[in-house]
Amino acid sequence: MKKIILQISAISFIILILYGCKPRDEQRTERSENSAIPGLVKKGNVTQLIVDGKPFIILGGELGNSTFTSMESMEPVWPKLKALNLNTLLAPVYWELMEPEEGIFDFALYDQLFNEAEKNGLKVVVLWFGAWKNSMSSHAPSWVKKDQVRFPRIRDNKGKSHEILSPFSENTLTADRKAFETLMDHIRKKDKNHNIIMIQVENEIGMLPVARDYSDAANEKFEEAVPAEFVNYLKKNKDILVPEFQQKWAANGFRDTGTWENIFGKSVYTDEIFMAWHYAQFVNSLVEYGKKKLPLPMFVNAALNRPEREPGTGYPSAGPLPHIMDVWKAGAPLIDFLSPDFYFPNIEYWCDLYTRQENTLFIPEHVFDNTAPAKAAFTIGHYESLGFSPFSIESIQDTANHPLGRMYHILQQMVPMIADHHGQDKIEGVLFDKEKPERILQMGNYELTARHSYTLGYEGGSRSEVWDPSGAVIIQTGENEFYLAGTGIVITFKNILNPEMNVGLLKVDEGKFDKGEWKVIRHLNGDQTHQGRHVRIFNNDFVILRFELYDYN
Ligand code: DGJ
Repeated sequence: MKKIILQISAISFIILILYGCKPRDEQRTERSENSAIPGLVKKGNVTQLIVDGKPFIILGGELGNSTFTSMESMEPVWPKLKALNLNTLLAPVYWELMEPEEGIFDFALYDQLFNEAEKNGLKVVVLWFGAWKNSMSSHAPSWVKKDQVRFPRIRDNKGKSHEILSPFSENTLTADRKAFETLMDHIRKKDKNHNIIMIQVENEIGMLPVARDYSDAANEKFEEAVPAEFVNYLKKNKDILVPEFQQKWAANGFRDTGTWENIFGKSVYTDEIFMAWHYAQFVNSLVEYGKKKLPLPMFVNAALNRPEREPGTGYPSAGPLPHIMDVWKAGAPLIDFLSPDFYFPNIEYWCDLYTRQENTLFIPEHVFDNTAPAKAAFTIGHYESLGFSPFSIESIQDTANHPLGRMYHILQQMVPMIADHHGQDKIEGVLFDKEKPERILQMGNYELTARHSYTLGYEGGSRSEVWDPSGAVIIQTGENEFYLAGTGIVITFKNILNPEMNVGLLKVDEGKFDKGEWKVIRHLNGDQTHQGRHVRIFNNDFVILRFELYDYN
């Protein structure tokens, strides 16, 4: 056990030397100029994903867990993905299928599947289902599962083992890392067109059914002093830690020496912090080795916690969650970003939390419900995120004219314009339902009052109990010029600089981008603009509008 600790510490030390003194932005997979390998670049305060030399926004979908396991299973799925206008597929690679016998790697299946994705015009985000998948270790190969001496399980507080590999095992780290490194090396050799654009490392790491591992190795670590690199991070970032984490430390007097309980007090949250540090160190080691083979952007995803519940018993403890994002950032500086998976409502609340500490927003999983299309537009606009991806994308039967496909169709056309305006406070996103039907935006000299189109009362849906969600992206492309893409929105305007002036519509066009060029389909006026009073897209229409404003008195 000592050995693994020494090894993890040595890795951390090297990482600290290499990266510890750099600001957070410089630690990510920065794309070097002219590199064909997909990577991340900073534009203003926004991170862009560069693919094929151009900014790319993921209009994605994640497959259900078992679909990407044979060509036959995928056969009926490819046309669905096309009909939904996805540009990216998020698909798992199982450790158990890739390394069925120790040291014998079999890529035949995945090579075929990846080739087929490319043939279907889909970029791929690979999800590494390695040591952990939704807390459990169900995707470990049988030679790992069957050898509990070599690959120890976690133990709960009653000493019971579970099918969860303990992160306090050098053997497990070495085996998982070897497999991951081999996967990355294989992708480097095979994926000549760089069709695989990002990697998710493990899936929803988190500790259940208690907040921390109680195996002997874990208990031993728990009684040791908190590693210096974490204490140094805490001291250096004391004033800018996320508030809920800072408060936990403050409640124990900001102590900075001793064990986990000395520094953070005796609590289930201390158990969670301890566990998060060790999960983060484990994953960081995989990322370090993997990126040496192929430096693609790499991220981790989290099963969100219900704030009123306790770690371990109420949610998977210690995953890359917002209240412990500092622990993950400190423990895994090579991970490019932490991502939320959405199976709860209130996306804005969580995205606000996940965009702290300069974290880049990408949503790898969102329940595939009727809110998904609007939320894709909202998150890509409001947070200028890397992209969006509903989960179990193949689960719907009728993909023709599906709202997600229609939303992706217009967003795809907008990608170059969105990317051009990234990081300059020129892009906004809105999301409306009956409870939250309005948002006031300031864009340049204008105040935009954006509302759900049902607030007008013209559409049948406005009289229903529950409103269909609506959402849109708005881009300011000139002082008076804007583009709007989405569904179910009406906007009126005020001039902020000269409030005594009225704001009128000079021109409103509905159109499309054809090979990057704007083509007008309809000149809108009359009823379509309420005779010049507002700009509007009815719900369940998915269109792009270009409009110009002018001031009069
Ligand atoms: C989140 C996980 O990340 C997915 O793999 C899947 O298990 C869904 N939950 C639930 O179906």
